[in-house]
Amino acid sequence: MVKKLRKAFWIASIRILGPLRPRWGSNLSVRVYRNAGMRFEGDPTFVASDAWFDGTNDYSLITLSEGCNISGNVQILTHDLSPYCVLAAMGRRERTPVGRRLPVRVGPHAFIGLGAILMPGCTIGRGAVVGAGSVVRGNVPDYAIAIGNPATVIADARDYVKEKFLDEWHSLNSTSSVD
Ligand SMILES: CC(C)(COP(=O)(O)OP(=O)(O)OC[C@H]1O[C@@H](n2cnc3c(N)ncnc32)[C@H](O)[C@@H]1OP(=O)(O)O)[C@@H](O)C(=O)NCCC(=O)NCCS
Repeated sequence: MVKKLRKAFWIASIRILGPLRPRWGSNLSVRVYRNAGMRFEGDPTFVASDAWFDGTNDYSLITLSEGCNISGNVQILTHDLSPYCVLAAMGRRERTPVGRRLPVRVGPHAFIGLGAILMPGCTIGRGAVVGAGSVVRGNVPDYAIAIGNPATVIADARDYVKEKFLDEWHSLNSTSSVD
């Protein structure tokens, strides 16, 4: 009980601090969710204070990787208890909730756009981009741009940078073997 209250206090602090100082809000989010059991493989670039993580059952189902960006109002879901309601509607009331609990992983340097929803079980690859407002299920491959509801892959994020951010692409080329 005390543990739950402490967690609620810190998450409320993130919500209050985040809009005032986004960087502090992000740092606090990482610290609090790490303590709550969420998995971190390196340090994310940014975790918005109003992103929502489904830790109802277990925050350890969520993994955030090095350099990833979680924009505002993103929602990451790890459970779905709809079968419990369906069974109840059909007259079968189970003692314990029936449903799925599946992990979600956001890969290194992946960008999750504003208001996106990541469904239970999805995996976002390295350097992938999820467009604002998208609803993602399944796997988004490395460097893919996925948009829409349901999200589909529309392009390669490296081509997007090459086409629209030419100066940065050239500076990358001069310091690495990317072509
Ligand atoms: C996904 C994204 C990177 C694509 O950028 P882009 O390549 O410049 O996109 P364009 O504007 O050229 O659009 C390309 C196509 O994708 C569609 N599209 C782009 N973003 C979309 C989105 N979020 N949802 C649905 N469709 C989208 C466009 O309508 C367009 O479709 P069309 O070819 O049929 O006309 C960008 O649109 C996006 O969503 N960025 C995230 C912004 C964000 O969340 N910022 C948070 C600030 S912290």
